[in-house]
Amino acid sequence: MAYFSRNGNNYVDGRIVNLPVGNTEVLAKMIQEITEGDLFRIVPVNSYPVDYTETTEVARKELRENARPKLSNRIENMDSYNVIFLGYPNWWGAIPMPVATFLSEYDFSGKTIAPFCTNEGSRLGRSLTNIIELCPQSTILNGLAVRGGDAKKAQNEVSEWLRELRMIE
Ligand SMILES: Cc1cc2nc3c(=O)[nH]c(=O)nc-3n(C[C@H](O)[C@H](O)[C@H](O)COP(=O)(O)O)c2cc1C
Repeated sequence: MAYFSRNGNNYVDGRIVNLPVGNTEVLAKMIQEITEGDLFRIVPVNSYPVDYTETTEVARKELRENARPKLSNRIENMDSYNVIFLGYPNWWGAIPMPVATFLSEYDFSGKTIAPFCTNEGSRLGRSLTNIIELCPQSTILNGLAVRGGDAKKAQNEVSEWLRELRMIE
């Protein structure tokens, strides 16, 4: 399980609130508790501004430039994982660029990626296409989209998704 999540100010149900724990992190921990995998947080070296609007500007620039922001941590034993749950917020309809860095830093050929995403309405956006482009030799499973503000109460959706993917009985 690898996820990127930003804590700080964010839009939740149309309002700006300060989230000490990001929405994707809430969802990631819920999925990890059920699947009992290892948890890896994708952390960029340069953290994003706490301010929401500033973050959207940085993120838009990174997306436009197809940037690969440096990450501060690495998974040393990627070879030992066949299935990777990958969580991220929808940013401008796409994967956040630190997730693109993550997908570019390892060889995911032959591995299975199960994407999940929190968002404020655009659901998965183009993120599955982004992942397929970066990991053309991987199996990309059906993604789960959860509204950020609903992450805490997504247990049923999560279980249903995991059953559909045949990850749980
Ligand atoms: C830079 C940025 C861009 C965003 N773009 C979108 C978007 O295009 N569509 C959408 O539905 N939500 C968008 N959102 C809202 C986030 O996807 C949503 O708040 C998410 O739950 C945040 O997850 P996190 O707390 O784990 O970072 C955006 C948020 C940020 C900060």
